[in-house]
Amino acid sequence: MISFEEAKARLHAAGQSHVLQFWAELSAEERSELLDEISQLEPKELLEHCRGAVAAASRQQSADAGLDARMEPVAPEFIGSVRESDKETIQLWDDEGLLQISQNRVAVLLLAGGQGTRLGVSYPKGMYNVGLPSGKTLYQIQAERIQKVQELANLKHGCRCTVPWYIMTSEFTLAPTEKFFKDNGYFGLCPSNVVMFEQRMIPAVGFDGKVILEKKNKIAMAPDGNGGLYRALVDNKILEDMERRGVEYLHVYCVDNILVKLADPVFIGFCVNKGADCGGKVVKKAYPAEPVGVVCRVDGLYQVVEYSEIQPETAELRDPKGELLFGAGNICNHFFTRGFLQEVAKNLEGQLTQHLAIKKVPFVDGEGNLIKPVKPNGIKMEKFVFDVFQFSKKFVALEVPREEEFSPLKNADGAPLDTPTTARRSLLAQHYRWVLAAGGNVLDEQDKPIAPKHRCMAQNEDPSAICEISPLVSYFGEGLEKLLKKKNLKSPFYLDVNEANNILQTT
Ligand code: UD1
Repeated sequence: MISFEEAKARLHAAGQSHVLQFWAELSAEERSELLDEISQLEPKELLEHCRGAVAAASRQQSADAGLDARMEPVAPEFIGSVRESDKETIQLWDDEGLLQISQNRVAVLLLAGGQGTRLGVSYPKGMYNVGLPSGKTLYQIQAERIQKVQELANLKHGCRCTVPWYIMTSEFTLAPTEKFFKDNGYFGLCPSNVVMFEQRMIPAVGFDGKVILEKKNKIAMAPDGNGGLYRALVDNKILEDMERRGVEYLHVYCVDNILVKLADPVFIGFCVNKGADCGGKVVKKAYPAEPVGVVCRVDGLYQVVEYSEIQPETAELRDPKGELLFGAGNICNHFFTRGFLQEVAKNLEGQLTQHLAIKKVPFVDGEGNLIKPVKPNGIKMEKFVFDVFQFSKKFVALEVPREEEFSPLKNADGAPLDTPTTARRSLLAQHYRWVLAAGGNVLDEQDKPIAPKHRCMAQNEDPSAICEISPLVSYFGEGLEKLLKKKNLKSPFYLDVNEANNILQTT
């Protein structure tokens, strides 16, 4: 712990002496908390951070306009497509991916340091239960998909492989996430293969270049964006851990997509076959203002331009066929080789763009009263995980069908899109499609067959039958025919491992 004198000198050097303005009023415990926080701030970095934030805020307008002029769409033939590739090609990618998984060369990394402000819950988003018949949370669904993909690789290659799960958390999410996993027995995974680590936090800055105090003894801090990943990998020696385990390929994804295919063999195989060091999954953007980034080229380099940084006129542009010109929507599923990550972490991280967010940040006024501002008063700086694409020697993109792979949970119920209800419907509709494809007959409460509605894809209504299949039974619809063909299944229907075993024993 640093002394008061040392803290004072550091803050003076960074132009932030106001942080100690309530010192005389603080209890011994509050003082020690404040000193602890200050001890983590390096004066030169803090000064640069505060100056940089104000400078970025004042040039925001011109920077954004400049970016749009430099954007070019990616050629459609550049993007691989699951929908448009033949079965043999997809099988080839799938085989390659499962082979890599079977050799312990694949890991997944969850970005879970965000605060989930839009969803409005006080706990990490992964702990959210969207109301499936099983009551499973996003974390449980993800854990079970990891188990299943390991099992698929084991069965195919006669091995006992591991897909390690790295989870990047932040000061807000680490403790509750750890507790949740412990309380739930790591959902059947081996705890030593679930590696949680923390990203850095950085101060929110006022327009006057001073860090904002959220309490008399606490600076308002926020995670440094999901691009904080690259510093966090170094801080927490994660790349060394991957090397020790022999991991060569990493699937990085965000927490809120209920349809995410963890360690997706097709995506891994696609990227490995193309010799890529970096890759991203995309879906066709649904409408111009959809809040997804777009994969495009900027100054000739592949990049994602975030929805908050593209001008509405640019987002509306269409090609001669009427398709959105910038229509390759980023679904935050990225592929990286370990070698690429090592290069980024060692030499390139410092070049990542600092993105600006102007936010309402609660603060204490000169008298120590907590004020909830009605107007934005603070500058938060964030790095974005995809900003490393520009450093790639071989970047590839794979387009996947939205209804099979993308339904994010962003907003609370009541919002029109990306809510618990739309996430639940997407998963139930997908599982119903799987049941139909496997030849199952779904019956209603009166044992009458339920007629499938128009391919049961809509997010704006419940599917006509409620079917949920545990990821421990099927990763992506495979293996269901032997269980469900010509079977009468009563909606709501939940197929877990016990039920699957019962069916097998009685058939
Ligand atoms: C993100 C993508 C966007 C994409 C969309 C798809 C980024 C920067 N943006 O947008 O291009 O179209 O998902 O759903 O990736 N997180 C951290 N630490 C942080 C901040 C966020 O780990 O400091 C994590 C979150 O927990 C989440 C993920 O990053 O898992 C994405 O963050 P979120 O704020 O939900 O991103 P979007 O704005 O929805």
